[in-house]
Amino acid sequence: MSSKVPSKTLNNGVEMPQLGFGVWQVEDEEATRAVGTALEAGYRSIDTAAVYENEQGTGKALAASGIPRDELFVTTKLWNSASQTWQRDDVMREFDASLAKLGLDYVDLYLIHWPRAMRDDFLAIWRTFEEIASSGRAKAIGVSNFQPAHLRRLLDETSVVPAVNQIELHPQFQQSEPRAFHAEHGIATEAWSPLGQGKGLLEVPTIVAIAQKHDRTPAQVVLRWHVQLGNIVIPKSVTPSRIRENLDVFGFELDDEDLTAIAVLDEGRRLGPNPDTFDYN
Ligand SMILES: NC(=O)c1ccc[n+]([C@@H]2O[C@H](COP(=O)([O-])OP(=O)(O)OC[C@H]3O[C@@H](n4cnc5c(N)ncnc54)[C@H](OP(=O)(O)O)[C@@H]3O)[C@@H](O)[C@H]2O)c1
Repeated sequence: MSSKVPSKTLNNGVEMPQLGFGVWQVEDEEATRAVGTALEAGYRSIDTAAVYENEQGTGKALAASGIPRDELFVTTKLWNSASQTWQRDDVMREFDASLAKLGLDYVDLYLIHWPRAMRDDFLAIWRTFEEIASSGRAKAIGVSNFQPAHLRRLLDETSVVPAVNQIELHPQFQQSEPRAFHAEHGIATEAWSPLGQGKGLLEVPTIVAIAQKHDRTPAQVVLRWHVQLGNIVIPKSVTPSRIRENLDVFGFELDDEDLTAIAVLDEGRRLGPNPDTFDYN
């Protein structure tokens, strides 16, 4: 099954599976089970974060799988909380802690979790990320929840173009402007909450009708839409049957009529916070 997941070539040549497994809101112990099931099903890319507090459980599943390290793609994120202004040593300390919890000596992708532009420290954080990348301890570096204006500052004032921007994106929040900006600058778009957090979206009549037409599930239709748009997706589930279902989206294709019908579902409405104003501890 894993061979069926295509990969995207990031702007530094690193290959990233287009479909991976997200573990937000999964307790540490449960993460070991869920990631274990996902790896067994054929997923090779796992998306965690320091703030999810399940890097350790995730790492246990990676180690127990026996899958060679170079066949895995592991993403984690810096929780650049509002408790301080972030300096180089703070970033290094957090990065080392993430590696230790994961039980790894490198990650494939390290992301700044939120821009928190009001704190004006993401440029300094990014310069430390560049240092981490050049040491080889992150094969690629990127950002999450950055708006085009934040990316513009990075592009203007630092040297490495982020490989990825991980943003909220699903049929009810299609993010055309950021996607166009990413495409223009060679930044891969990664969709978080790709299933709209499993609420509402999967019951939308248009999605249900397209699913019936292809003899697929609504979740598979939504994930297939992402894949055909060129997004990287990281659906989360702790349900073994859904974990397998969500990976099985490479054996059918949405046609133009389906894509047109989904295009009009955009409501421009976020499920998560607005990155322009979101700050946190
Ligand atoms: N960078 C960021 O700021 C950020 C923010 C949010 C999320 N993320 C990442 O993105 C990942 C995915 O986003 P998400 O967890 O918010 O939401 P999601 O993947 O869109 O949806 C997950 C929800 O959908 C349900 N579900 C999964 N597969 C299903 C299926 N086939 N049929 C019906 N329901 C299904 C899950 O239920 P069960 O688990 O009960 O099966 C869960 O409640 C996260 O885990 C995390 O890695 C990143």
